[in-house]
Amino acid sequence: MFGAISADKVMKISVEISKAYRLLNHGPTVLVSTAHHNQRNVMAAAWNMPLDFDPPKVAIVIDKNTYTRELIESSGSFAINVPCRAQAEMVVKVGSSSGRELLGKAEDNKFAAFDLPTFTASKIAAPLLEGCVAWLECKVVPEPHIRDAYDLYLAEVVAAWTDERVFSDGHWHFEGHDELRTIHHIAGGNFFTTGEAFKA
Ligand SMILES: Cc1cc2nc3c(=O)[nH]c(=O)nc-3n(C[C@H](O)[C@H](O)[C@H](O)COP(=O)(O)O)c2cc1C
Repeated sequence: MFGAISADKVMKISVEISKAYRLLNHGPTVLVSTAHHNQRNVMAAAWNMPLDFDPPKVAIVIDKNTYTRELIESSGSFAINVPCRAQAEMVVKVGSSSGRELLGKAEDNKFAAFDLPTFTASKIAAPLLEGCVAWLECKVVPEPHIRDAYDLYLAEVVAAWTDERVFSDGHWHFEGHDELRTIHHIAGGNFFTTGEAFKA
């Protein structure tokens, strides 16, 4: 049912219910990296959120058809890499192809296929992506019901890192670093970068 309501001077237009998620989808899009034995992978994930302070936890949607999910199930861990504006095209690439399709090829993972440099995490096997602005090392908190019903994973953050140019003393400061601003996916490759900081 479409229409418009006007309780005061501002007209409110209805949004197709299947697109309602776009009204909330402004958190940073992240890259989920994983590793198990000699397999490693990375995918994009826009549907993620912090869940708790202490111990710190996050929630993230990982579709059951992804290769990432297979490696998370095998390893019990993953990394959340927070990419920036300069990496947006790469984010779409790793979010539009599956590492499963690369298995058996000469470049048998997305890091090699897309020439993505990484560095070693401190507490988990998953590689961390160079060029991102923050990294959270996560261990899965087993919750089979919500995993199976909603593709939703809960995880405890066991280590975290950041690019000191844009985050220090507990605060983001992107001024003068537009290319390092975090990116926020709406749909179909349309993003916002994070905007002006202010205190209320
Ligand atoms: C910008 C963007 C955001 C995405 N967000 C999610 C998400 O939150 N959860 C999810 O399961 N897939 C998401 N995807 C899709 C996965 O990244 C995609 O299925 C990917 O190809 C899986 O790769 P894999 O099979 O190598 O793990 C997103 C894709 C893009 C481009």
